[in-house]
Amino acid sequence: MIKPLRKAVFPVAGLGTRFLPATKAMAKEMLPVVDKPLIQYAVDEARAAGIEQFCMVTGRGKTAIVEHFDIAYELEATLRARSKNTELAALRELQMPPGSISTVRQQEPLGLGHAIWCARAFIGDDPFAILLPDDLVMSDTPCTKQLADVYHETGGCVVAVCEVPREQTNRYGILQIGSDDGRLVEVTGMVEKPKPEDAPSNLSIIGRYVLTSGVIDHLARMERGAGNEVQLTDAMAKMIGQVPFHGLRYEGRRFDCGDKIGFLEAQVAFALKRPEMSAKVAEFLKQYV
Ligand code: G1P
Repeated sequence: MIKPLRKAVFPVAGLGTRFLPATKAMAKEMLPVVDKPLIQYAVDEARAAGIEQFCMVTGRGKTAIVEHFDIAYELEATLRARSKNTELAALRELQMPPGSISTVRQQEPLGLGHAIWCARAFIGDDPFAILLPDDLVMSDTPCTKQLADVYHETGGCVVAVCEVPREQTNRYGILQIGSDDGRLVEVTGMVEKPKPEDAPSNLSIIGRYVLTSGVIDHLARMERGAGNEVQLTDAMAKMIGQVPFHGLRYEGRRFDCGDKIGFLEAQVAFALKRPEMSAKVAEFLKQYV
């Protein structure tokens, strides 16, 4: 029996060093693309995939992330008194069902795998999605929904993948693949951040996963991998053969918002998608190029 997917984990303890000084006192996940913080894109995407329970793996200086999803009484009262109904509606949309957000703390930056292991009590025996808020995906069907749909058919683990230039394989988890129908690939192996000459393919994992809880047992060994960190990729690799494991070439476009250029590109792409501002943005862009 394939258990329904209802849980998602959001690793948000990262230091955001690539965005200093902006992230000195502010969580990088609170950086806005147009007018919505990165974490909200991720949570909205998870909700659109039927996720009902959300776990933020936070660290020091990350309280604003959790605050963001709380009720802001004073703010709402002020908006109501001033009849700012559009703004009020936007806040209301943000509101999460009571008890749906949990947090756990990752005290030390020991790697993505360690962050996920910190959420083990939340995960229990259930399948769960992981969304890395740095990876922002623009698509017709939300990326996590695409993964959830595959998961509900195949069971096991499903990761979102896309082709990257060979010289960039050392930035990602890279798949070794078996059968491939052009959309869904069978995963036969995976390596974290291989050198281009060692990479088994150029199919990279982006920050969207659906995994079964068995991965926690592999993470619990705390084996260090690339960069001397506990790598999620290494623990996932141990699941191959134990459960079905697929890579999905998702429909959509990914922006690496952990990178300055990727982040700026996301601003432009998302602004151009907004009917109320696209014409103005297109107009001023012409003046700069
Ligand atoms: C993490 C994962 C990597 C994955 C990437 C996607 O790397 O370890 O396998 O390809 O996210 O963004 P990081 O970006 O944290 O170095």
